[in-house]
Amino acid sequence: MSVTARSTPNIALIKYWGNRDDSLRLPAADSLSMTLDSPSVEITVDHADVLTVQSFEADGSEKSLKAKDITRFARHLELTKKYVQFLAEASPLPANVSITIRSQIPSSIGLASSAAVFGCLAKAYAGLIGVAVTTPSSMTLTDEQISVIARMGSGSAARSIYGGFAALLKGDGDAMGTSHAVQIADENHWPLHDIVIVPTQKEKDVGSTEGHALAWTSPHYKKRLDQIMRRQKECTDAILAKDFEKLQRVTEEDCWDMHNVMQTSAPPLKYLNDETYRITDAIEELREREHLPILYTMDAGPTVHVICTEEAVKTVREFAHALQGCTIFETKTGSGAILL
Ligand code: DP6
Repeated sequence: MSVTARSTPNIALIKYWGNRDDSLRLPAADSLSMTLDSPSVEITVDHADVLTVQSFEADGSEKSLKAKDITRFARHLELTKKYVQFLAEASPLPANVSITIRSQIPSSIGLASSAAVFGCLAKAYAGLIGVAVTTPSSMTLTDEQISVIARMGSGSAARSIYGGFAALLKGDGDAMGTSHAVQIADENHWPLHDIVIVPTQKEKDVGSTEGHALAWTSPHYKKRLDQIMRRQKECTDAILAKDFEKLQRVTEEDCWDMHNVMQTSAPPLKYLNDETYRITDAIEELREREHLPILYTMDAGPTVHVICTEEAVKTVREFAHALQGCTIFETKTGSGAILL
């Protein structure tokens, strides 16, 4: 019997960058994000004789997957089986599965599709395990366990399991399950808008997976790790207290710090472009002029996420649409991965 799940990307406020174990994606530090309510990905999984992965774009056309993508799904399935076996002492997951991905996420717009895909796949695997309730090896996974499965496919995906605001905790040691995500506040706590400004839709040269492995080569990385716990706490406090000014300060500080690490790694990773800097300068001017609650942040690409409250959304929308040559995408706080 097949199982289908739906998930969405998230936008990091305290960034995940660098692992202590790249193969298990055990992060070097905590991170924190807001789950978005769109665009979504749906994945259907079913028992199969061999692993198959098919991916479809929003217009229904089939996306051709690279050998490296298939390998990532195969490795993720093996890790998931190992982890579930460790939990249950008998794996209720089939030896092989068919994976069918239907994505509404336009590629290369700077919305983390891997977070949505692996968040979704983890939820679907949990569903597949739960469906087998009649078999002695079936089990119900907790959200924390599902977040571990998501994390092993894409670190940031662990956070997309939850709605609202979620933290990925680094944990200690080298066990697969030591790092998992937790919810900080649900999607009704503090609804915020994310106006996504995409200056260029060019595919990036170095993906996050390769990028994480370079983090330790930056002379600034050690200092970054020393600062993260303080930032993580400030960000959590700001969210719980709905203190936008505090959230803005710590989010932007962490964003520039991560890009400083990226730009000083060997080789340097320059994800931002001139357009990004022009947009962030303009947002700072707009914020000062209008005295509005607006913040910006960028992941591993030139796309600028402008996050704001209801009070500021009209102004931000007008600002974004007046920019020449940019694609604009609007989203807001969302409710996390679900089984359909
Ligand atoms: C800059 O989770 O995309 O967006 O585990 O290799 O898939 P992989 O990396 P990924 O890294 C995200 C990096 C980031 C910051 C963040 O989302 O926290």
